[in-house]
Amino acid sequence: MTRRAVVIGTGHYLPERVVENAEFEKTLDTTDEWIRSRSGIERRHFAAEGETTSDMAAAAAKAALAEAGMEAESVDAIVLATSTADLTFPSAATMVQSKLGMTRGFAFDVQAVCAGFAYALANANALILSGQADRVLVIGAETFSRIMDWTDRSTCVLFGDGAGALLLEAQESAGTSDDRGILATDLNSDGRYKDLLYVDGGVSTQNTGHLRMQGNQVFRHAVEKLAKTANTALERANLTTADVDWIVPHQANIRIIQGTAKKMGLSMDNVVVTVQDHGNTSAASIPLALSVGKSRGQIKEGDLIVTEAIGGGLAWGAVVLRW
Ligand SMILES: CC(C)(COP(=O)(O)OP(=O)(O)OC[C@H]1O[C@@H](n2cnc3c(N)ncnc32)[C@H](O)[C@@H]1OP(=O)(O)O)[C@@H](O)C(=O)NCCC(=O)NCCS
Repeated sequence: MTRRAVVIGTGHYLPERVVENAEFEKTLDTTDEWIRSRSGIERRHFAAEGETTSDMAAAAAKAALAEAGMEAESVDAIVLATSTADLTFPSAATMVQSKLGMTRGFAFDVQAVCAGFAYALANANALILSGQADRVLVIGAETFSRIMDWTDRSTCVLFGDGAGALLLEAQESAGTSDDRGILATDLNSDGRYKDLLYVDGGVSTQNTGHLRMQGNQVFRHAVEKLAKTANTALERANLTTADVDWIVPHQANIRIIQGTAKKMGLSMDNVVVTVQDHGNTSAASIPLALSVGKSRGQIKEGDLIVTEAIGGGLAWGAVVLRW
């Protein structure tokens, strides 16, 4: 028998305020048509004043626990992917722990920007496989609206806020690729590309800063690296693209999503797409898409899913799991 990290609950949270592309036409030299055709984004949610990353993360986590019929006290660890934690410290994960009323276990943040959820899932999987935890909440949550330069039309129209969560549980299985759970992970980063996508401030520079991006350069790396990491993770699981039911990609740009699916030889019928409604929610985008894809009836138990993401660093990675 083999120990596996199996998804037993999903949940998400989106802030109430929805901002349509047309709203940006009032303050920027842009159009709904440009944003829609270049990125696939139609609208995004923005957190309310005072609403924080840990508030949204806790709401998504509660939904995942409720779906699984589990109490927070039965969770051994929280791994929270975010680049927009409430405070410099403590971690947003410990804030979620407190908001869930969880007084045991351990909690920490993972920071790999838009690739954060792949990194968080890989870490949670390792905790489960090594026997350090039996039940792990893996959350992606972001308030990127707080780091936008609202005068920069090439970035501020692309991002949104939100949170998604998965509850993973250790289960024994025969250990084949037909059995449920995380089957393989692949993580990468290359700091030579740090200037392509970054925030020009931080704790040691004494200002929060704003997101800066060379969009077309990031785009160039994205399709190639995403298809490669997805294929590597599939190979590690002894599977091929022919086995894939759903790609659940990081939702940054519909053209990157389409390009990656094409490079992998898969149809868009096999891709869960939420970018039109959420924009790029960074580390929250994959768990949001998994939760929304499940509630739409797209993702079903037994489906083979590949998630892939790339972001600042550059950092990128993929996770293959049987739902
Ligand atoms: C940002 C992105 C949508 C821009 O699309 P693009 O086709 O690459 O466009 P470019 O950056 O080459 O810019 C083309 C023109 O559009 C303009 N433009 C940029 N933002 C605009 C906006 N919101 N409205 C209108 N025009 C805009 C640029 O100024 C440029 O004008 P110029 O040719 O006169 O200089 C695209 O590069 C992208 O999505 N990149 C990946 C970004 C991403 O996903 N990052 C996150 C990864 S986690």
